[in-house]
Amino acid sequence: MAKIVFKINGKQYEADGKFGPDVSLNEYIRNVAELRGTKAMCHEGGCGACIVAVRAALPPTNEVKLFSVNSCLVSVLSCHGWEIITVEGVGNRLTSYHEIQSRLAKFNGTQCGYCTPGWIMNMYSIYESKKNSITQNEIENSFAGNICRCTGYRPIADAFKTFANNPDQELINKLIDVEDLSVLRSCGKRCSKNCHHKAKNDKETNINNDNSWCVIERSDNKMIVVDCGKRKWFKTYVLDDVFKIMSKNNDYKLIAGNTGQGVYHVDDYPLNVIDIFNVSELKGHTLDVNLVLGAGMPLSEMMELFLKISSENEDFAYLKAFYDHMDLVAHIPVRNIGTIGGNLYLKYMNNDFQSDLFLLFETVGAMMTIAESVIDMKAVSCTNFLKTDMKRKVIINIMLPPLSSKNTKIKTYKIMPRSQNAHAVVNAGFLFRFKRNSNLLEKATIVYGSISPKFVHATKTEGILAGKDPFIDETLQLALKSLDKEISPEEAPPEPSAAYRKMLAISLYYKAILNLCPDDKIDPKFKSGGEAIKRLTSRGTETYDTDKSVWPLNQPIPKIEALVQCSGEATFSNDLPSQPDEVFAAFVTADVIAGSVISDFDTSEAFKLPGVLAFYTAKDIPGDNSFTPVNCTLLNFHEEILCTKEVKFYGDPAGIIVATREKIANKAAKLVKINYESIAKSKPLLTTEDVLKSSEKDKRITMNRTMKPEEVGNDVKYVVNGEFKLESQHHFYMEPQTCVVRPTEDGLEVISSTQWLDLTNVAIAQSLNVPANSVTVVVRRVGGGYGGKITRSCQIACATALVTHLLGRTCRFIMPLETNMKTIGKRLPTSCNFEVGVNDEGEIQYLKNIIYQENGCSWNESMGYTTVNHFRNCYDTKRWYIEANAVMTDTASNTWCRAPSSTEGVAMIEYIMEKIAHRIGKDPLHVRNVNMVKEDNPVPDLMHQLMKDSNYNNRLEEVKQFNEQNRWRKRGLKIIPMTYDLFYIGPYNSLISVYHGDGSVIITHGGIEMGQGINTKAAQVCAYMFGIPVEKISVKPSSSITSPNSMATGASVGSECVSFATMKACEIILERLAPVREMMNNPPWEELIEKAFQIGVDLQASYMYSAKDDVKPYDIYGACALEVEVDILTGNLDIRRVDLLEDTGRSLSPKIDVAQIEGAFVMGIGYWTSEKLMYDSDTGKILTDRTWTYKPPGIKDIPADFRVYFRRNSKNPFGVLQSKATGEPALCLASVVTHALREAVRAARLDAGYEDQWVDIQNPCTVENIFSAVGHKVEHFILK
Ligand SMILES: Cc1cc2nc3c(=O)[nH]c(=O)nc-3n(C[C@H](O)[C@H](O)[C@H](O)COP(=O)(O)OP(=O)(O)OC[C@H]3O[C@@H](n4cnc5c(N)ncnc54)[C@H](O)[C@@H]3O)c2cc1C
Ligand code: FES
Ligand code: FES
Repeated sequence: MAKIVFKINGKQYEADGKFGPDVSLNEYIRNVAELRGTKAMCHEGGCGACIVAVRAALPPTNEVKLFSVNSCLVSVLSCHGWEIITVEGVGNRLTSYHEIQSRLAKFNGTQCGYCTPGWIMNMYSIYESKKNSITQNEIENSFAGNICRCTGYRPIADAFKTFANNPDQELINKLIDVEDLSVLRSCGKRCSKNCHHKAKNDKETNINNDNSWCVIERSDNKMIVVDCGKRKWFKTYVLDDVFKIMSKNNDYKLIAGNTGQGVYHVDDYPLNVIDIFNVSELKGHTLDVNLVLGAGMPLSEMMELFLKISSENEDFAYLKAFYDHMDLVAHIPVRNIGTIGGNLYLKYMNNDFQSDLFLLFETVGAMMTIAESVIDMKAVSCTNFLKTDMKRKVIINIMLPPLSSKNTKIKTYKIMPRSQNAHAVVNAGFLFRFKRNSNLLEKATIVYGSISPKFVHATKTEGILAGKDPFIDETLQLALKSLDKEISPEEAPPEPSAAYRKMLAISLYYKAILNLCPDDKIDPKFKSGGEAIKRLTSRGTETYDTDKSVWPLNQPIPKIEALVQCSGEATFSNDLPSQPDEVFAAFVTADVIAGSVISDFDTSEAFKLPGVLAFYTAKDIPGDNSFTPVNCTLLNFHEEILCTKEVKFYGDPAGIIVATREKIANKAAKLVKINYESIAKSKPLLTTEDVLKSSEKDKRITMNRTMKPEEVGNDVKYVVNGEFKLESQHHFYMEPQTCVVRPTEDGLEVISSTQWLDLTNVAIAQSLNVPANSVTVVVRRVGGGYGGKITRSCQIACATALVTHLLGRTCRFIMPLETNMKTIGKRLPTSCNFEVGVNDEGEIQYLKNIIYQENGCSWNESMGYTTVNHFRNCYDTKRWYIEANAVMTDTASNTWCRAPSSTEGVAMIEYIMEKIAHRIGKDPLHVRNVNMVKEDNPVPDLMHQLMKDSNYNNRLEEVKQFNEQNRWRKRGLKIIPMTYDLFYIGPYNSLISVYHGDGSVIITHGGIEMGQGINTKAAQVCAYMFGIPVEKISVKPSSSITSPNSMATGASVGSECVSFATMKACEIILERLAPVREMMNNPPWEELIEKAFQIGVDLQASYMYSAKDDVKPYDIYGACALEVEVDILTGNLDIRRVDLLEDTGRSLSPKIDVAQIEGAFVMGIGYWTSEKLMYDSDTGKILTDRTWTYKPPGIKDIPADFRVYFRRNSKNPFGVLQSKATGEPALCLASVVTHALREAVRAARLDAGYEDQWVDIQNPCTVENIFSAVGHKVEHFILK
């Protein structure tokens, strides 16, 4: 039987027909090879968690290359002859760690660690393939496809840039600093150069470096046919074979890189899958008159070629611009195997696809060769290709014409919602061919993408331009007006609005003219409008004091798990090796308007899928159908695990389908049909606005809290009022919502990705009607939670436990991203209506603010109380009236999302301060100052300090000058203050066990390690208390056995409370040891412990932090200055510099706190700029449910210059060991970006002649919303 043969980390594997086309390399690596270091999240090439390296001989030359791929996009049957390297193969505990792994660990480039293997593998591929020939900038540019939600990217970028051939001095210094740091190995020892664990020889590293890797004969190009039962997989090498298969089969699909499924998901493969990746006739290039590119050429290879040919051949100089454009297409792992033909065919199949290749090729009038057989070939234009019948045809090549730059000018643009790895909002290509020795146009080509499926050329405008000089105002206006008439985009939610895309398309024409126009024909102020924003390679500094006298407390050390995270040895819930007979579960969701009523389920289609085993509904739940038991603190209302009757929101989970494979369960879930007794007729109420307008207003709005004024001022000179809206945010944890439940001899073992052990324990026990002590919940670590796994994870855990309970088999539930986006609630959207009376100085005489927060479909997790607290920020509130209302809407029940209520509270009041300042014409800083709490408030000093550190006043002047000199580029610089009102929740315990054998210590606690460094902080506290090195301490998984009844880890306080409990538990042991120590005259720790053991001292102690402890709430102070630059003609932005000062008290662990601050801030930047959620207003269906449509920030969206300062000489008399919490506050400071953006937009509007009126940029400040706030008019687009 034919097989696909490949190697993983040097070991040979064979995949036969048992593995169909839908088995990805990722599934194979994790579930068959059992190498769980490689992760997965989105399964569509959008997150990078799954990246592995591949070494393979690539046609046409068969040169062996090493490159990265997204293992989620590669079918395992595509891997014939490949040597695959996973993170375990790069370095591990048994061999040694690779320098990339140890540097990332030392630079603190990991938090939860779930994304880390993907980063390592991408860097490894770059490092191995380009050793010593890559610059810092190129390195930073190479991670468009890797998302990290925790770190804010800065430490990752720094660590990797040290491998560049031109690291700057700052980085070299950092490298020297961190080289002194040793990181803990999983063996519990510090890494040192001569560690005996290091690999003794190359064999141990698993990766063969010689050429014996190739597991098949390189010259053997015989077709392989893998019989997968119903389907066949053809691995072809020559075109003739491809045509032969196509001629005999109607039902077929060609596959090249197979990355297209990342854009258009493939639910079902046809009967015949033809792998053409190695077909020699589709490879390579020729250059005679035209440049002919084989359609099977991967995009990375094409880009390299563009770079080379553009520098060598003047007729193809335009390919440099194409290279730059392609640099914004997808990302390196996709481009490494994604081919030209595949991209163009995606456009063919889906005319609305914003294909950048199609755009580029059509702009220069490229021709394509389409073949019906090896001899029957035809050349067609790109537009005619779209009309060609492609049945049984293959794209063979693309021919690019020579275009001399002497008489041809070309400019292309791609406008995206974030800096990299996003499809175009609008893309555009412009070609102007001039008559010989003339300013007049012979021909203009104007091509746009993302207007409407059929729109390619602005034909009428092209016609108008012929014979004209494009670089004079008259022609420009003519062209713009013509474009205005002929561009008519279709609404295509969740794509940006048609109005924006139309104006953007027009603006891009103007931008191209600005770019190409000779200098003497244009006002110099306009020139910078022609370029896309080019940001500098990022940098960052961290400034803090450290008190060596208390080390290891306050010592800057890397996370204790950093190294195992970098090697993939750190395990997450779904990394439990395959269990005998295990099954997979998925939710069947009620995809219908809220209020519809379920009658029954039709599972017949689902059960036709081989491997589908069972289906359960609410009726199968033996106990309470609730995953929010109200006997757990914070929860007041039951929420159903599975919907019984009335659907609460579009996507409400109503059933569980169980199958033998994850993919089958997810596929089968879509095949279950839910029948409804009735379908709701009225539109869902999705927003506060909808509810306020509805007849259900009274029952859907509850007042949570009011705060009344103590007095009212009577010097009212101005009244400022308005409405401010903040939208929602998806947590975007990289580890999906996951639970694995195993049957044990006395109940269930629940390995859950939860932030809350106790809730999981209670909810499962009550839903299954079993004793709580039969349910053991274990959490090693969580791959990012940010609040989204506090209560919501419990629904998944209950569902998984139900399956195991009923079937008696291990069950895994890994929630796909799309289901997650649909069924799991998010940050509460908040809005407020306010009115403020102020005097001439802006001092508030009265303030009334009515807040609405959208809870979604349940009242649980209302935030009114704390929102009111945070709204007060650092200001004197005695004249304020605040009212907070919770609003029930028809969406999934919303939940805490990093810095919940504080983000909203601080943003609302800072918005009001800015608006007052604008109204009275005073500096916002002045307005803030007059309203500050006057006594005992360090914020004014912090602001003053930050203004000094950030050189604020001088830079304001520079910004002013820049804005005067640039009509279409504007900068804004703003600063905001923060007081974050920290409160404690609990209880949390910590259990310390000291081992007499060697004095080593184990901590296990009731908190959850999810990247925030709780384990490292606990270990540092313990080491400090016992006076021993940190490496003597190991922190074990959290479990409901050792930490029953523990509170959810969240609200920034988990680390502190666990540190407190650790300190107290250590004190108990120290007290027991005191007499022994005295007796032995202060002996070494190991001897002390041995002796204590011998005389019967209990060396284990537990302490539970609770509200009765003497730990008082306190305030965290901070300030942030941010400078942004906006491309006014597109709405794109670049955060040029951020200075952030935070009061961390005496930090328990400075490196961890810097990382918390940076990570929180960047998550805030995402919230305010690129993360937009959209729902269908008729049905309530979420439209932004994928990485293709939802855009958290990437590595090039972070501040280009990010400086973090801790408040100097700060100590906290109330906190734990004088520290302050850092997990969330910095996120509140991120709203400063909105003010800086508004300032930039304001400058542009003033230039356009608008009055200086207050202008809102709708939140989030996406490219669309920024652009729209400018108020562009065609008449504004001039040259002189
Ligand atoms: C995360 C991500 C981001 C992306 N971003 C962008 C972007 O910003 N801009 C953009 O333009 N594209 C983008 N893409 C699309 C990407 O360029 C394509 O996925 C890739 O080029 C497809 O090539 P492939 O070889 O993998 O095609 P495959 O997935 O193998 O095939 C795609 C289709 O093309 C057909 N096909 C392949 N080769 C031929 C041929 N020679 N003749 C006839 N039919 C053929 C196949 O039958 C299939 O139907 C993105 C993709 C991903 C996954
Ligand atoms: S899982 Fe492959 S890119 Fe996200
Ligand atoms: S460390 Fe990157 S997602 Fe958590």
